[in-house]
Amino acid sequence: MPDLTPRREDKFSFGLWTVGWQARDPFGDATRAPLDPAEAVHRLAELGAYGVTFHDDDLIPFGSDDTERAKRIAAFRAALDATGLVVPMVTTNLFAHPVFKDGAFTANDRGVRRFALRKVMRNLDLAAELGAGTYVFWGGREGSESDAATDVPTALDRYKEAIDVLCGYVRDRGYDMRFALEPKPNEPRGDIFLPTVGHGLAFIERLEHPEMVGLNPEVGHEQMAGLNMVHAVGQALWAGKLFHIDLNGQHGPKYDQDLVFGHGDLKSAFFLVDLLEHAGYDGPRHFDYKPLRTETADGVWASAAANMRTYLLLRERAAAFRADPEVREAAAAAGLDQLAVPTLAPDETYADLADDDFDPGEAAERGLGYERLDQLAVEHILGAR
Ligand code: GCO
Ligand code: MN
Ligand code: MN
Repeated sequence: MPDLTPRREDKFSFGLWTVGWQARDPFGDATRAPLDPAEAVHRLAELGAYGVTFHDDDLIPFGSDDTERAKRIAAFRAALDATGLVVPMVTTNLFAHPVFKDGAFTANDRGVRRFALRKVMRNLDLAAELGAGTYVFWGGREGSESDAATDVPTALDRYKEAIDVLCGYVRDRGYDMRFALEPKPNEPRGDIFLPTVGHGLAFIERLEHPEMVGLNPEVGHEQMAGLNMVHAVGQALWAGKLFHIDLNGQHGPKYDQDLVFGHGDLKSAFFLVDLLEHAGYDGPRHFDYKPLRTETADGVWASAAANMRTYLLLRERAAAFRADPEVREAAAAAGLDQLAVPTLAPDETYADLADDDFDPGEAAERGLGYERLDQLAVEHILGAR
């Protein structure tokens, strides 16, 4: 059995809103008491996490006066100092208060848009004070239920305007901070703008400071859209835009389940860990999940530990898969290594393509052996090898 003790260098982090979720859903009341942020920090540190993240309102309830705000921040800071936990990422709640019922940066009401910018700027100051290097934007309310109620190109103008203004703010203040957009196809809005990683990547290229803006893909969100998270993250990495990641579990296209990492599509989780570990991603492994509504506090902490343990197990399984001589042989037989060879040699042009004596019939008849490779992966996941 490998050592499955989470360590600081594993860079596991959790949102205050995850372990602190009181399990209120659209059909039922809370099943758990509120969790004090300082207690969350202590418990997460004991379990081996290195970081904690939060929305402004997780720490400072909406509408708190300055005295209350200062008190809450001080208590949180004391817990960070006592445990050594860091704050790698901070974000804004631009979705819970009814003022955001029609969105924040893309609300039709200009007053709401300006209010949203002020809310973010205030929290950017706090994020910078706490040393956060990443600021996440999840636009849960940016979208619509009816295509009659908004105008997509114009809404995207406003979305871009907001991100551009906020990039300008971070630059003027000299904060060492990057933005990460978090795509989601729907929920709470019927359709959310920037629904997938691909949409996010295309949007970033239109910004004033594209170099400051990347992505925070979430496992469940791509899978809600019926997409392959491993491919999404692969493309984000390829574009140099994997600034952060939300790990959790989901069973295909349905409501946002936010299960423990690996408790949804386990095979995809395996390949995701393999990708993160071998592609040089060195950011936080951030869990954005919701402990099941059935759980008491004990179940909450068991689920927090489960996220990290599953990640470490999958990391060990991925390493074993890669080291297995039979896997190497099957991969070579399948021609996987050839993908890295450029299609044209450095000194060739398209004119040289005419000289090939390639036989399409022969290539078409060749089996690739992917079934064998896939089964080897499944056996490694199951611990059979
Ligand atoms: C969700 C989102 C959120 C965001 C969070 C940080 O579907 O509820 O994933 O949990 O990650 O608001 O921006
Ligand atoms: Mn989610
Ligand atoms: Mn998320």
